[in-house]
Amino acid sequence: MLPFTALAHPNIAFIKYWGNRNEILRLPANGSISMNLDGLDTRTTVQFDNSLAADVVRINGKFSNGGEQVRVSKFLDQVRILANLRLFAHVESENNFPSGAGIASSASAFAALALAASRAAGLEISPDREETSNLDKDFDQMALSRLARRGSGSACRSIPGGYVEWLAGTSDMDSYAISIAPPGHWDLVDCIAMVSTGQKNTGSSEGHALAGTSLLQASRVEDAPRRLEICRRAILERDFTNLAEIIEEDSNLMHAVMMSSHPPLFYWLPATMAVILAVREARSQGLQACYTIDAGPNVHVICTAAVADETSRMLTGIPGVREIRTARVGGPARLVQNPSTRQDEI
Ligand code: PMV
Repeated sequence: MLPFTALAHPNIAFIKYWGNRNEILRLPANGSISMNLDGLDTRTTVQFDNSLAADVVRINGKFSNGGEQVRVSKFLDQVRILANLRLFAHVESENNFPSGAGIASSASAFAALALAASRAAGLEISPDREETSNLDKDFDQMALSRLARRGSGSACRSIPGGYVEWLAGTSDMDSYAISIAPPGHWDLVDCIAMVSTGQKNTGSSEGHALAGTSLLQASRVEDAPRRLEICRRAILERDFTNLAEIIEEDSNLMHAVMMSSHPPLFYWLPATMAVILAVREARSQGLQACYTIDAGPNVHVICTAAVADETSRMLTGIPGVREIRTARVGGPARLVQNPSTRQDEI
């Protein structure tokens, strides 16, 4: 069968997903909102091959085994069921940014895998369709977002482009992400203050399972519709002041849940806190910048494009900040040409 290559961007959540109602289906405890990150991407090629006795997975040039391989194979099982296919696949995936350090590599990884694998398996995507009643017939963008969600929750938000909302839904059928504004709607920039490029100790799948052990999670989830509404409106109205306040509050709430779980999860390093304080101080002086942090120590500093250079310079001066990576608002997951070298390898 033919190989297909897909590209997807990671995304940074403004309103966070933390905790599942259903761990297997990855139905989230609350809805979330994010921005896709342009220029950071995962490219994944998938080819089903009748000469294989098992899936062969290569990530960033290294053959995977153990947990990583099992997770990809389990995901491919979903695709095989949808496509009624019994073949194993070659999967080749590359990121142009460090994995596992608070830039959501699992989001872009499973979004790219969902698109490449579904196409390679012969499932068609017809993004114009409003409704999907039968997955194997009408494999549209919502279905693709739902499929990506099964690999990593936040991956469903890397399927549509621009500013994206994941509707928590009530079941597997209605829990998917939609674009709430295209990339050109508002030129925000994520200046990522890298304070570590190491792998995090506790992955997010494990972390989600601990969320309910924090006394604070129920209140965080109960209040989520209010935060989602403020964030959605701030994006639509390009209201940076309200966006900054709600993004920081939401990030603080998620980290309070993490820190008060059993066992507690501490993702921050001292430099993380230094960046938080510096960003708040700069904003009080008029800089349109605010922070948000995922399951890692790096700080995503969201600012308007007009002050991105000034924000990066300010962050560079903070002790413990090793590097700044910047990303504008990214588009949707999409198919790309197969690089001929990879096609030969496959
Ligand atoms: O999709 P996961 O299982 O990697 O979870 C992502 C969790 C956070 O990045 C911390 C928050 C979010 O909404 O992206």
